[in-house]
Amino acid sequence: MQPLLEESYSRHLAVLQERAERALAETGFDRLLIHAGRVHEYFADDQEAPFRPGGHFGHWAPVEGPAHLLEVRPGRRARLLRVTPPDFWYEPPAPAPPFVARSVEVVDLPDADAAWREAGGAPRTAFVGEGGEEAAAHGIDDGSVNPARLVARLDWDRAYKTPYEEETLHEANRIAAGGFRAAKAAFRSGASEMEIHHAYLAGCGTTEDALPYPTIVATDEKASVLHYQRKRDRGQGKPAVLLLDAGAPLRGYGSDITRTWTDGADPVFASLVAGMERLQQQLCASVRPGAGYLDLHVAAHRGVAELLSEAKVVTVPAEEAFETGLTHPFFPHGLGHFLGIQVHDVGGRLADREGTLKPPPSIYPFLRTTRTIEERMVFTIEPGLYFIPMLLEPLRQGPKAPLLDWPLVDRLIRSGGIRIEDDLSVTADGHRNLTRPHLPH
Ligand code: GLY
Ligand code: MN
Ligand code: MN
Repeated sequence: MQPLLEESYSRHLAVLQERAERALAETGFDRLLIHAGRVHEYFADDQEAPFRPGGHFGHWAPVEGPAHLLEVRPGRRARLLRVTPPDFWYEPPAPAPPFVARSVEVVDLPDADAAWREAGGAPRTAFVGEGGEEAAAHGIDDGSVNPARLVARLDWDRAYKTPYEEETLHEANRIAAGGFRAAKAAFRSGASEMEIHHAYLAGCGTTEDALPYPTIVATDEKASVLHYQRKRDRGQGKPAVLLLDAGAPLRGYGSDITRTWTDGADPVFASLVAGMERLQQQLCASVRPGAGYLDLHVAAHRGVAELLSEAKVVTVPAEEAFETGLTHPFFPHGLGHFLGIQVHDVGGRLADREGTLKPPPSIYPFLRTTRTIEERMVFTIEPGLYFIPMLLEPLRQGPKAPLLDWPLVDRLIRSGGIRIEDDLSVTADGHRNLTRPHLPH
């Protein structure tokens, strides 16, 4: 495995080098300095928020710790100026993994000043990342700190994942699947949200701080809170619905999977879950180069309209439910997003390498991906259907109220909502589902 990893990482770096050289040439720079990010202390406190490297840095080098600089110059091997201060309070950042150290020139330095000295001054350096004041203090002018035209190119290119990235995300899905299986068993045995969360972490073999995003462990009515963050402990009784949205970390990347399971739920809700599973699979089947992500999102709304109509939540045919916008309060988020170093990875709303934006239509304000689907993109497909009191209330009070069966809606509010989410990588003629081989349901 190690020689394979080393080889795929070194090819990944070769791709990044080529992209960076092109972006530098197009924007008039000779050198790229990428900052790993800074530590953030809570206000008037000596405690720190968990550190997470910036995405630009993580794209190049999966190494622990803040303040490092990564230097890229045309025709040269990338140099990692790694800051590793002596410390007896904390364990210093782990050394760069061997597969990294064999492809990148690593220079270990005791502090950030030493890293800047090692970087040395160079005209036409572009600085990318957090730490603009540090860059200014070392002679980099404002216009060269996160220059928009350069960053747009890096973000645009980041949508095309290298085989190293695809395999890393695939492996992160495999790790997460262990957590999902453990969480499902806990749910079926009547565990609380807190206990399911712990079962998930143990099943992945990870810690909370390392997660790509906080787990969403939502039972029953809380499944309608899209990014539900609490973890209720015992005292709620045995849940009948679990919506689990969780990721697993690997080499700075993370998976992003959602499953909704029922155990003794309202039968209408259970049939909606089964219908959503079919809809999600149909949407996945349409993923191929040339398809428009926005078109898939619209198809998801049509599918939600059919589910609502079949379940008689709405009293009108699916077509009318779709045309009158009845699906919007039930499916208020976007169908999905790019996935990579960041769970909502960059570049989803770019129209071109220059950074021109391609925003979603105003009726779908939360859609994060408007690009045409192309080979090597990795994104999620995550349709949902929720009973969210805050969004249903205006409908209940408005002119479209007669189009819904409100006693049924009130019953289903107790079941919360449904989301089913897989990670997909786009191939030359279709896609590869990175999730289902490890987590079929
Ligand atoms: N886990 C957040 C999302 O699915 O976008
Ligand atoms: Mn997602
Ligand atoms: Mn998710």
